[in-house]
Amino acid sequence: MPRIEIDDQSFECPLVVGTENEKAIDISQLRSKTGYITLDDSFGNTGSCKSSITYIDGDKGILRYRGYAIEDLAENSSFIETAYLIIYGHLPSSNEYKLFSDLLTSQEILHEGFRHHFEGFPNNAHPMAMLSAMINAMGCYQSDLYDDRDDVSHFDKSAAQLISQVRTIAAAAYKMSIGQPMVYPYPNKRYAENFLHMMFSLPNNSYEVDPDILHALTMFLILHVDHEQNCSTSTVRLVASSGANLHASCSAGVCALWGRLHGGANQAVVEMFNKIRNADYTVKEFIEKVKKKEDGVKLMGFGHRVYKNYDPRAQILQKAAHKLLDKAGKNDELLQIAQELADYALHDDYFIERKLYPNVDFYSGIILQSIGIPLNMFTVMFAIGRMPGWIAHWKEIVDNPKQKIYRPRQIYTGETHRKFIPMSDR
Ligand code: ACO
Repeated sequence: MPRIEIDDQSFECPLVVGTENEKAIDISQLRSKTGYITLDDSFGNTGSCKSSITYIDGDKGILRYRGYAIEDLAENSSFIETAYLIIYGHLPSSNEYKLFSDLLTSQEILHEGFRHHFEGFPNNAHPMAMLSAMINAMGCYQSDLYDDRDDVSHFDKSAAQLISQVRTIAAAAYKMSIGQPMVYPYPNKRYAENFLHMMFSLPNNSYEVDPDILHALTMFLILHVDHEQNCSTSTVRLVASSGANLHASCSAGVCALWGRLHGGANQAVVEMFNKIRNADYTVKEFIEKVKKKEDGVKLMGFGHRVYKNYDPRAQILQKAAHKLLDKAGKNDELLQIAQELADYALHDDYFIERKLYPNVDFYSGIILQSIGIPLNMFTVMFAIGRMPGWIAHWKEIVDNPKQKIYRPRQIYTGETHRKFIPMSDR
């Protein structure tokens, strides 16, 4: 058992070993036994939980959902099948799949009251702000919301509602923002196809779905389903640990995802490509600027807290982007810029020494753009894909009878005790 020596005291900490032989030292008793806490700003070396949902080996570039390789799922599964897998822990039988799929269909239409919520936003509201607010609002239309924890069928319904309606809300927000009428979902269409229909159909002109686009979108969604204890998922777990309901917890996840260092990177990457395309900089000039850390500029879509090797999702998306554009006979300028940036960075000492590789966001925007998704909706697309993962993590918290509220400690660095002086005497 690992032994910690502090101030002439010796203390044994239990060793925790995961199923993939990942090792941790359980320091939960450290403070009560020694008076010390551990300090790990930004949690770079801190395990916050045990989880059986997703496995990542960042050095080898491995990602598995419930034991299944991401490459297998991306090529052979559907988004709904992968969503079921991540939430319930096993691949569904055909009967389970049908029941789940029917439940999703039964939940796909928004309550008419949502129109008022949409109308309350200014036209230029960011769709991530709308999405977060709408997910919380969705919960208000369920009178028995707080039974999620105790009642399995209630959880199933809430989960299905979130997965189904997040897509309806996203498409409705887009339609509102461009001044077009909302398009209702079509019960017989599959998940991704229905989303494209709600985004791009017009009242008298139904959107014709290109199978290559549908395949690319489905793959995009599957690749975003889960990624263990990232910023937004940790947020969902933290909020859930206080006893908050599923909708409130996932709404918080949307806010955490929005930032440019996390899900917001997919929008920032394409903005960066556009700057290079518009000749604000050449690729070389841009990379030099990044290396000098001028104005905090980063090579967006590069680097990852866990992957110190290729992010397998980026490799899959890179191939998918080439395939999609080659088939469409398009010579995409953004893909060329991406390729040039990646070639340059992957041979440059700055990036090699720091083990910085393309992450999931580096190529995903190129795919979203060729599908016709507007730039400010990119992170919303990430949220649609991530919803089943957030739900699975919420469930893992709730299903753990020993779960305690998340409550990190701190080292206080502020003023020591000061005497209060009344305003009249200051
Ligand atoms: N461009 C330039 N330098 C970088 C980049 C980058 N994209 N990423 C990391 N670095 C540098 C850091 O400046 C630091 O340099 P230093 O050693 O000289 O101080 C070193 O590499 C280590 O980086 P950290 O910031 O300590 O790495 P951390 O694990 O905290 O951050 C993160 C990971 C946030 C993803 C970071 O790599 C980054 O900002 N990337 C760009 C934004 C991005 O693509 N985010 C999406 C991540 S994937 C996702 O969330 C879906």
